[in-house]
Amino acid sequence: MLRRLLLAISASHRARDLITRTPVTREVVQRFVAGDSAADVIGVAEHLVSAGHLVSIDFLGEDTTDPDQAAAVAAEYVALLELLAATGLTEGGRAEVSVKPTAVGLGLPEHGEKTAAENIERICAAARAAGTTVTLDMEDQTHVDATLRLVGEVRADYPDLGCVLQSYLRRTPGDCEALAVSGSRVRLCKGAYRAPDGIALAARTEVDRAYARCLRILMHGAGYPMLATHDPRMIAITQSLAGSTHRDPGSFEYQMLYGVRRDEQRRLTDAGAQVRVYVPYGSDWYGYLVRRLAERPANLAFFLRALRSRH
Ligand code: FDA
Repeated sequence: MLRRLLLAISASHRARDLITRTPVTREVVQRFVAGDSAADVIGVAEHLVSAGHLVSIDFLGEDTTDPDQAAAVAAEYVALLELLAATGLTEGGRAEVSVKPTAVGLGLPEHGEKTAAENIERICAAARAAGTTVTLDMEDQTHVDATLRLVGEVRADYPDLGCVLQSYLRRTPGDCEALAVSGSRVRLCKGAYRAPDGIALAARTEVDRAYARCLRILMHGAGYPMLATHDPRMIAITQSLAGSTHRDPGSFEYQMLYGVRRDEQRRLTDAGAQVRVYVPYGSDWYGYLVRRLAERPANLAFFLRALRSRH
């Protein structure tokens, strides 16, 4: 209920103004966001990579309504990839980038899919030159078909383009079957957006069961699974499936968000697993922050406590 309310608030301009103008919000943002600039995120990425983790960097922003803005987002990624290559961080794919399709134009009223495909191809070309990869994030359910079409299209030239599947959608086990093929990089998450009941599973237990089912399909398949979860039970199931499917630790990876369960990121890396940390940066952090608050009541309580202590 609270989660639904928060995700509804995330679309309200009044709430956005109120929350982004409150100085204390900044402190909460810092926990989940590396900073405003590419230099900030490169500093964080250097730290994480030197600690043995992998990283995927997200330039914050979504629902772009202007083609010039979509092109500017693509240009930001190209410049970021050049900087990452210059610092040696892209070597062996240790640092890659994550891109939201609507940030590069998917939701534009005209030619959205074509604009997004062109911008994603520019980013993929820069990633290839830098020696690394791109993963397309998955946004709300209205964009899933178009995003999967984009993935299919861009993969013809850039077969290492990764994509995300969300276990809260009823369709996802079928998508996992289709994508569990050789060379395919699939990030599996539970799903962070609002979705109607007919399309999405409502109960957390159902979403978890679906995650475990999708996990099995991907781990038994021929692709490269990227398990994006902080859930100890899903991590334990992955470990057990890695054993029963005889997967070597280099053939899949765990992924977690910057600022969430750092102790577990450390533990898995120390145990020899690959752990990629998803690190966002940029000033357009509002939607991302609200999704993090909606995921966990304790994060919301932390935010409200910080607010109260200042007023
Ligand atoms: P769950 O929410 O059940 O949490 C399990 C435990 O993890 C909690 O009990 C808590 O200990 C910890 N935890 C989880 N979230 C936390 C938080 N915000 N703060 C502190 N602790 C937390 N979604 C999407 O729709 N499209 C996408 O493209 C992506 N991409 C993506 C990339 C990566 C690398 C990750 C890790 C996640 C995403 N997500 C996403 C978000 C994902 O769908 C989901 O909302 C969150 O990961 C939370 O789900 P968990 O699987 O962690 O389990």
